[in-house]
This record gives sequence, structure tokens and C-alpha cells, in this order.
Amino acid sequence: MVTKKILATALLAGLIGFGSAANADIKLQKTTDGTEFKISNPKAYGDTKKKDNVKTKAEIEFLKTGKNIYVGDAEAEKRGKKRFGYWSCTQCHGPTAKGQVGPGLVGPTFKYPKNATNKGMIETLWYGTNGGMGGKGYGVMAADDGMTLDELLKTIAWVRTNGKGLTGNENVK
Ligand code: HEC
Repeated sequence: MVTKKILATALLAGLIGFGSAANADIKLQKTTDGTEFKISNPKAYGDTKKKDNVKTKAEIEFLKTGKNIYVGDAEAEKRGKKRFGYWSCTQCHGPTAKGQVGPGLVGPTFKYPKNATNKGMIETLWYGTNGGMGGKGYGVMAADDGMTLDELLKTIAWVRTNGKGLTGNENVK
């Protein structure tokens, strides 16, 4: 009886511990001024091909840990490459993201050092920078336009393929 109770308590504690760790979402900070932001508009999520605005597995994982699971996923990278062209990133950063009017994006060094991580690059892209790049996140530039988090994760995954091995996931498990 006693052992059962102890076991149950330990299990419960374990569950609570696990639960809070799983819910410990990352905190996103604007590259423009360092203030925290949340992506709350449901339209800012989802696979744009499906047009259902349902959070993808990649978005859920990113919001929890900052990891971009599309890095190394050839299918997602291919889609990301298309998005890079569609959203005119090519015009400023060049067809292989090595720089044109805007800086190169493949690293290993960046103007904003946090862009070596995928979380940092999402923060930079969502609200833009103070030095010449507008925000791309859904609802930032126009109320009903912009990229979903999923699209940006795919785009970044493709950007990483042009570098020399930097995945942007080095800092996460
Ligand atoms: C109108 C031109 C323009 C477009 C379009 C544009 N960018 Fe930029 N981008 C810039 C400029 C200029 C900078 C440098 C900003 C600064 O110094 O603050 C920059 C900076 C960046 C950085 C930070 C680089 C660093 O070294 O820290 C990333 C990442 C980035 N852009 C990705 C993208 C992606 C992805 C897209 C497409 C969704 C995109 N940009 C579209 C002009 C552009």
C-alpha cells in the first residue's frame, strides 16, 4: 500500500515535470528592438499548399525548442527554395543566398550573430531589421499578407543548404 502510494506520487511528479518541460515554449525577440513577441494570428501558421492554417509538426517543434526540423529534409528544402524566389529574397540576397544588394545569408558570420541559429533567423525575418529589411511574417507588413512560420522554416532550411555545413540547429537538442 505504502509503496504503491510512493510510486504513484513519483509517477505524478514525473508527469508534472515532463509536462512543464514539454510546454516550456521558446521566447521570440524582435531583431529590431529586442522586445518579445508571440505569433498569435492563426493565419500565420500552416503549410501554404494545404491552406488550412493548421500548425504543422515543424511549427510545433520549433515553438517548443527552436529546432528547425526541415533542415536536411530535401522535400522541404526544395519548397523553401521556391519560397525564396516567390517572396523576392532572391532579388536582394542572390539566387544562392550568397548576397547581392543585401548581405549573404550562408554564414558562418552574420551581421546579426543570432542568425547563425534558426530561432534567430525566424526572429529576424518575422519583424525585419532596422537596417533595410522589412518583416516577412504574416500580418506584419500588411494585415492579410506575409509568410507563415512553416514557409519561413522551409525557406531557412534551403538557405542553410548553401553554406558550409551550418544547420542552425547546433544549439538545440
Ligand atoms: C528589398 C531587399 C530585401 C529583400 C526582398 C529581402 N531582404 Fe533580407 N536583407 C536585406 C538587407 C538590406 C539586409 C541587411 C539588413 C540590416 O543590415 O539590418 C537583410 C538582412 C537579412 C538577414 C540577416 C543577415 C545577417 O547577416 O544577419 C536575413 C537572414 C535575411 N535578410 C533573409 C531574407 C529572406 C529569407 C528574405 C525573403 C523572405 C529576404 N531576406 C528578403 C534586404 C532584403
